[in-house]
Amino acid sequence: MRCRLQNLFILLALLLILLIVTMFLTDGNDSNNLGIDTFRERELLQHITRDPKRKLKYNYPISNNYTLKKISIDVSKGMYSDTVELDRHMPVVTGFRQSEAYLGLGMVASVQSHMPLKRIIVYTMGVHPKIMKQMRSMCNVEVRNVDFNKYPRIVSKPESRAWRVYMLMEVLAEFGAFFYASPQVRFRAPVNLLLPYIKNHKGIIGKLTPNVTVVSSTHPETFRSLNVNLKTFEGKFPNAVAISEHVLVVMNNSQLYDTFWTPLRHCAEDWKCIAPKGSTPDWVDNGTTVEHTHHYDLSVVNILMYRHFGTEWTRDAGLAKMMDRVVDFAKSGGLHDYLWAHYCNPPKMEIDCTLDKSKC
Ligand SMILES: *[C@@H]1O[C@H](CO)[C@@H](O)[C@H](O)[C@H]1NC(C)=O
Ligand SMILES: *[C@@H]1O[C@H](CO)[C@@H](O)[C@H](O)[C@H]1NC(C)=O
Ligand SMILES: *[C@@H]1O[C@H](CO)[C@@H](O)[C@H](O)[C@H]1NC(C)=O
Ligand SMILES: *[C@@H]1O[C@H](CO)[C@@H](O)[C@H](O)[C@H]1NC(C)=O
Ligand SMILES: *[C@@H]1O[C@H](CO)[C@@H](O)[C@H](O)[C@H]1NC(C)=O
Repeated sequence: MRCRLQNLFILLALLLILLIVTMFLTDGNDSNNLGIDTFRERELLQHITRDPKRKLKYNYPISNNYTLKKISIDVSKGMYSDTVELDRHMPVVTGFRQSEAYLGLGMVASVQSHMPLKRIIVYTMGVHPKIMKQMRSMCNVEVRNVDFNKYPRIVSKPESRAWRVYMLMEVLAEFGAFFYASPQVRFRAPVNLLLPYIKNHKGIIGKLTPNVTVVSSTHPETFRSLNVNLKTFEGKFPNAVAISEHVLVVMNNSQLYDTFWTPLRHCAEDWKCIAPKGSTPDWVDNGTTVEHTHHYDLSVVNILMYRHFGTEWTRDAGLAKMMDRVVDFAKSGGLHDYLWAHYCNPPKMEIDCTLDKSKC
């Protein structure tokens, strides 16, 4: 009996040892296999992304060897028919401060991934020199330092948003078109999908924000400064929908100079018009009445649009759908998509952040 118990113990001990040895062996084999697998996977990935024999099919031109044709763009005189050339004449323009730089680089990355040739113009205000240097060597990115001496003093106060009006008008005069995108924008498709809508919309397209009204997002003082009676406006356009502050697509239209751009620029020279006292981008109603949600220059754009086009410009379901397809917004929190912004003002190079930390 005792002998049997002893045998049983020995047997158990042996089993235990066997189990440990097996586990050890399989483990070793497994981790080896794992190593091989990840290596293979990595190789496969390299094959997919780097295989020189891979046949790429872009539905977008990939040669950057072109010079802009000297064409005059004026929507009121008919639409220039070469859409590739028009697309080239429509840079993506943005502007950011240091606090928005990484958010903005995520926008840049989204342009690069969907529009490999799209020129991106970044106006900077107080961005750290290191980031400026990085941006200057990024693919198709042109960094412009705002020279405040050239403009009225209000432009040097970023909180007035007056800079945006001046920068956009500058780009419009230079290229004949622009796609303004705030740092929050993430492109999901090329902007040339919107070109067919531009003519019908007289050269100005915004992104409608169905649950935000013009009146709720505009300081009453701005209406007054533009000589627009608030009550009349509300009566004429009940629940007038506002456009997003983050997107504005424009193509040169000489018919809009007097009715649109000149009043917009005049307004941008005057605090009382573009950024009245008490304006705030995100007012929360807590009983105080001195503050009012305000979209600054885009509030002015809204009022001018309704004043000149009535409500007709807001009724284009096809355009709204296309706009949703092209433009998305960054969801806040833990954004790392700026890592995808890449460098290619020669040589073309993608940055591996695990190896090249200083560039990330
Ligand atoms: C290790 O794994 C390979 C492949 O799965 C298998 O052929 C081999 O027999 C394993 N070796 C051991 C010691 O388990
Ligand atoms: C760019 O294109 C022009 C004419 O199409 C050609 O002569 C020139 O060699 C090209 N340059 C490069 C760098 O490919
Ligand atoms: C804008 O339109 C005006 C009037 O037709 C024209 O003189 C000007 O050259 C156009 N601007 C651009 C950049 O095409
Ligand atoms: C508008 O509606 C959407 C979805 O219904 C919501 O996520 C968003 O916060 C709303 N925006 C405002 C300003 O109320
Ligand atoms: C309301 O919010 C503003 C800031 O938006 C703040 O300065 C003010 O103290 C708040 N008032 C109350 C009563 O909480």
